[in-house]
Amino acid sequence: MSIITTARMILRPFREDDAEPMFHNWMNDEDVARYCRWYRHKDLKSTQFMLHLYLQEAEQGFAYRWCVTEKEKDEPIGCIEVVGTREHGTCAEIGYVIAKRFWNQGYMTEAVRAVIEELFRCGFHKVIARHHVENPASGRVMEKCGMHFVGFEQELHKFDSDILCDVKVYAIRSEEQK
Ligand SMILES: CC(C)(COP(=O)(O)OP(=O)(O)OC[C@H]1O[C@@H](n2cnc3c(N)ncnc32)[C@H](O)[C@@H]1OP(=O)(O)O)[C@@H](O)C(=O)NCCC(=O)NCCS
Repeated sequence: MSIITTARMILRPFREDDAEPMFHNWMNDEDVARYCRWYRHKDLKSTQFMLHLYLQEAEQGFAYRWCVTEKEKDEPIGCIEVVGTREHGTCAEIGYVIAKRFWNQGYMTEAVRAVIEELFRCGFHKVIARHHVENPASGRVMEKCGMHFVGFEQELHKFDSDILCDVKVYAIRSEEQK
């Protein structure tokens, strides 16, 4: 899989020694998990298990999950991944998180822009993303990355719950990218 470099970050594959910083920087933070499909991890073991699945998927050829690191420190501070594909595999849906201490400094916009470019380079024709209606910061990232609002959907708020929530869907096509 590719390594993507931006002004302040390096987006690289996950490694076995990433579990502790993942856990402490975002997986155990209720504020980060609130509008994500997963629940906050209460212990390091849960993050180690999830990282193990990430590494397995990478070994099996899944190439669209990046560990977001600070350029100088190589410390994991977030994740961007393709969470699904549509339209016969030509449209990639992305999801992303970043540690709370980096919020509102343009980090995720910088990283998502670079990932969108990479996905178009990889042959996807369209990239979409969805956010909970009560999580407008995520929608703002989508807008700043050139995505446009396409409509509302309802989806399960958490993976194993039956609670539905309203989400806003954003999209960008390869020919729209500046
Ligand atoms: C959503 C998230 C990825 C944003 O990352 P970030 O690095 O803070 O994003 P940026 O700094 O690039 O942009 C955030 C924008 O949202 C705006 N914003 C923040 N809180 C907001 C709010 N409550 N209402 C409206 N806009 C808000 C910021 O002002 C900024 O916009 P601006 O540059 O026009 O001022 C980050 O908060 C996060 O990881 N949250 C938890 C996980 C999550 O929700 N992931 C997305 C799931 S869909």
